Amino acid sequence: MQDILIDRTDGVMTLTINRVAKKNSFTNAMYSACADALEQASGDASVRVVVIQGDITVFSAGNDIADFLDTPTPGLGAPVLRFLRNLVTFPKPLVAAVCGPAVGIGTTMLFHCDLVYAGDNAAFVMPFVNLGVCPEAASSILAAQLMGYHRAAEALLLGEPFMAEAALEVGLINRIVPPTEANGLAQAQARKLAAKPLSSLIETKRLMKKGQLQQVLDVIDEEAQSFGRMMGEPAAREAFGAFMEKRKPDFSKV
Ligand code: COA
Repeated sequence: MQDILIDRTDGVMTLTINRVAKKNSFTNAMYSACADALEQASGDASVRVVVIQGDITVFSAGNDIADFLDTPTPGLGAPVLRFLRNLVTFPKPLVAAVCGPAVGIGTTMLFHCDLVYAGDNAAFVMPFVNLGVCPEAASSILAAQLMGYHRAAEALLLGEPFMAEAALEVGLINRIVPPTEANGLAQAQARKLAAKPLSSLIETKRLMKKGQLQQVLDVIDEEAQSFGRMMGEPAAREAFGAFMEKRKPDFSKV
């Protein structure tokens, strides 16, 4: 699986999204590779921290749109949902490095990472409404909790991008650095975490997350059911068809 590179060094497993020609958009095979890696890292005592990173020019353009069109109603067993559940329940620290566009799941997966470092070229966007669908990865509740309702509404209803400075201000990311330094900073922080007692890291993260864990998992399933239904409806067909045909969507009839 060349589209997801997996490295294990000094207790840190690094997943590099490596499909730059398609702006690091995620295919089902890539979700499965990440889900498998997280499962393996969870049970492997030699992995203490996981880092997720992209390219210096792009973190991820979100779900591969051709895959979306091939599997319009993926169901609860879909690779993306396995990836999300494994991410949400991952017991050890997760560190992300984000440069360039982080679209859709490129942004929403960050709600489930513990530390996020961004290049100053990072641009976050959750364009679900503009695609005729609805939020995923529990972003329908987590965005408002993090940013406050009105900023979340701007991000989710208008689907407007926000840059690294705004992401820092709302607390979605920890620090902004030049893009050439983002992956290195994430690695350095991961190594610091890897040197700490793993049992304390796991227990601390469990206590920090446990109040909302079941709710987050339930919301992910509810969002997925709506998302799957909406994928088959006219608004999404128009939005995705327009992307493939490289034209502006026309929502005047939906
Ligand atoms: N799925 C499939 N292919 C994608 C993709 C996606 N989500 N995002 C980009 N690509 C492909 C483009 O089709 C293009 O392929 P081509 O060279 O064969 O024509 C290539 O990646 C480069 O994309 P392009 O749009 O030309 O790059 P850009 O630098 O101008 O813009 C983005 C980058 C990320 C802003 C833009 O590609 C984008 O908005 N992508 C769609 C994001 C999206 O809606 N994702 C779904 C979220 S739920």
